Amino acid sequence: MCGIVAYKGPREAYPILIKGLKRLEYRGYDSAGIALLNESLNIYKKAGKVADLDESCQGKDLSGHIGMGHTRWATHGEPNDRNAHPHMSQSGDMAIIHNGIIENYASLKEALILRGHTFKSDTDTEVLIHLIEDIKDKANVGFEEAVRIALSEVIGAYAIVILSKSNPDYLIAARKGSPLVVGVGEDEYFFASDATPIVEYTRNVIYLNDGEIAIVSKDGLKIKTIENIDKPLYIQELEINLETLEKGGYEHFMLKEIFEQPKSILDSFRGRIHDHKQVVMAGIDQYENKLKNINRILIIGCGTSWHAGLVGEYLFEEFSRIPVEVEYASEFRYRNPIVTENDFVIAISQSGETADTLAAIELAKEKGATIFGICNVVGSSIPRTTHAGAYIHAGPEIGVASTKAFTAQVTALLLMSFSIGHKKGVISDRRMRELLTELETIPAKIEKILKLDTYIKELAELFKDSKNFLYLGRGVGFPVALEGALKLKEISYIHAEGYPAAEMKHGPIALIDAEMPVVVIATQRNHYDKVVSNIQEVKARKGKIIAIVTEGDTVVKGLADYIIEIPDTEEAFLPLIATIPLQLLSYHIAVLRGCNVDQPRNLAKSVTVE
Ligand code: G6P
Repeated sequence: MCGIVAYKGPREAYPILIKGLKRLEYRGYDSAGIALLNESLNIYKKAGKVADLDESCQGKDLSGHIGMGHTRWATHGEPNDRNAHPHMSQSGDMAIIHNGIIENYASLKEALILRGHTFKSDTDTEVLIHLIEDIKDKANVGFEEAVRIALSEVIGAYAIVILSKSNPDYLIAARKGSPLVVGVGEDEYFFASDATPIVEYTRNVIYLNDGEIAIVSKDGLKIKTIENIDKPLYIQELEINLETLEKGGYEHFMLKEIFEQPKSILDSFRGRIHDHKQVVMAGIDQYENKLKNINRILIIGCGTSWHAGLVGEYLFEEFSRIPVEVEYASEFRYRNPIVTENDFVIAISQSGETADTLAAIELAKEKGATIFGICNVVGSSIPRTTHAGAYIHAGPEIGVASTKAFTAQVTALLLMSFSIGHKKGVISDRRMRELLTELETIPAKIEKILKLDTYIKELAELFKDSKNFLYLGRGVGFPVALEGALKLKEISYIHAEGYPAAEMKHGPIALIDAEMPVVVIATQRNHYDKVVSNIQEVKARKGKIIAIVTEGDTVVKGLADYIIEIPDTEEAFLPLIATIPLQLLSYHIAVLRGCNVDQPRNLAKSVTVE
């Protein structure tokens, strides 16, 4: 939710900032802006994409070895040139970029107006930079100290970078609740929302913690807390491969990420299966005794990660025989949920930064639960706040609609449920071997499904103008239906609903007519006969049936209008393979409708505001 990048060092800042903003564009893309400091402070900003900003900057003074850039996902104030970041202080001496929300901005703004400040935008961010300047002037303190005092008055979430014309040696950043990474090069420093704009210049990074301020000056880098306590520089090495940040010949990141799934699933179980008979997950193993006796597992997440959690419910009940509740993090955090020390909470998040998930974790932690994170982005906030966890190793996911992260999350949940079940004695040695052997066949099965791409594109042609879609599934096919519907609405803007197949008759059946495509997960191990009955009900009302079936199926083939055949697998593994054709169907429909697949309207990949 908003991407920020900043640079100070011997290179020209502009190319680094523009390239960085393009990498961060998945976080927000309704407007963008840049500040460059040379003898003057030049600010260029524009509604629209980073490419529009870049174009509008051509021919202007782009020199400067210190600068910062921002790509926005609007919270306060509509997306236009005026509300785009950077914002300036009253005198024009200071500029700020910000990711997050200043909750008490209204009262701060009122007080500043009384003191003679005037504002040019509708944003909360502009209030903060005015406040900093006001403190600097009125309290007669230095730039650095003014930032620190101002932040202690602010309520809300932020990652900010600030520069000042009268303090040209300084670049100051701070974080509370929104991510910020510091890149440490040879006499050069970078700040960014994630490591992707930094990795091609240096692999040395510091993940800033909440309540910390990073100050780059002519003395180098120092980090202190808002309470003015100096912190040691804890430098870590990045492991991102640069190629994973490029499209690699694919038309869109989303398509590349769909096609990467044989590998990303393999990467998520690689090294965790020993000799086909044992799962080794360090994070889980240290809780072995606790897990044998826990009351229940609580799974929290948002969006696609929540769908993976629903698959997890099935898996932990089936294989570990532990009661499970799956919660939207945003709902959980605002109830008064009953959580005890005997609960084990699994927080699922691709980005590791989702604000609601982070807040739900804090709540469960306060209540004494053990928190386990399943995340993709290494070094992100959730893995750093949980007691233990497992990375899914899916590699950077850049398309806003999540694809390979979902299947890798499900893979991690499969491994965990097998491991706990095996340790509890619910799964025998023989069964464990069967399950792990089957998991190892999944990447090849997905390769086979990916070969159906051209056929699925033909189906997409037939349905691209539909107004609505219904997705039905039973058991573990239900979260697959939800995920299929979410993918379609996210990127093609066609209204779609996922439903448990049997629930259709309690409502959605009223919608079915000859115009309504109904995608049914009708694989043979998955409550097959019951689903066949549901298909009959749709057919009787002339709905257009697209069925995901097991290879060689004849019964559903005789009923459905179109079938997509996928290899046979045990029910537990179905989400890993049945999701793939649904991702492709959504992708092709969206492309045919001319939608921006990688950056759908109004969405952002990492939602760091609640
Ligand atoms: C946003 C993204 C979704 C994602 C959800 C949760 O809505 O667009 O793709 O599923 O956030 O994000 P997380 O990073 O916590 O998995």
